[in-house]
Amino acid sequence: MEAQAFLRSFGRVRGKTLSPRKQRLMDELLPKLAVPKALPAGTPIALEVGFGGGEHLVAMAKARPEMLCIGAEPFENGVAKLLCAIEEQGIANIRIHMGDARTLIAALPDASVQHVYLLFPDPWPKTKHLKRRILNHDFLALIARIQPPGGILQLATDHADYAVWMLEHLQHSTHYVWQAQDKRDWEDPPTIWAETKYQRKTTAEGRVPMFFRCLRRD
Ligand SMILES: C[S@@+](CC[C@H](N)C(=O)[O-])C[C@H]1O[C@@H](n2cnc3c(N)ncnc32)[C@H](O)[C@@H]1O
Repeated sequence: MEAQAFLRSFGRVRGKTLSPRKQRLMDELLPKLAVPKALPAGTPIALEVGFGGGEHLVAMAKARPEMLCIGAEPFENGVAKLLCAIEEQGIANIRIHMGDARTLIAALPDASVQHVYLLFPDPWPKTKHLKRRILNHDFLALIARIQPPGGILQLATDHADYAVWMLEHLQHSTHYVWQAQDKRDWEDPPTIWAETKYQRKTTAEGRVPMFFRCLRRD
């Protein structure tokens, strides 16, 4: 894939040294799970941007075995954690792009991805870092191209400030419309859901998650 030209939206890409088992999975299993150059025709596709440790991606893949669930994440230890779950649970419908999701998205065919998930993106709270937030108008345009009309973009955040930012971008988006009737729509997680390590930690700190389900306009 071509070198990225995106402003970096993620933090570290490497944590503690991988265990021998995780290193083996990175060497042997990860290459087998590369995103195929041609997506299988007739198979519904979901993409999770920044899957962290992969808890939600695993729950989705298990709940929707007919769907191909693609995850993109640059953090090596998160990818290794997901590989362990895939091996332990014998999951066959996950594909992984270890790197910037935007590079992958730019290479995917038009209207090919029914569901896009962006769950708890890095909040970059400092004013000088706001430009690093992955959700911006360029990102919405990037994913709009790969989603068919009626495609779903599922967002989540536990930063009040990022929630406002998301809604402001959606309000001005020609590509997406936020679907919300009443407050349960942003208080309740989607039907298929798995609380991640990240979500557990921030909930314990008193932060409240918000969920925004959006539709790709016609
Ligand atoms: C706060 S964590 C949340 C992880 C996970 N979604 C969860 O809910 O537990 C944000 C994640 O997004 C990833 N990330 C940030 N920018 C990204 C990008 N451009 N492409 C793919 N992943 C990205 C980070 O590496 C990090 O793992």
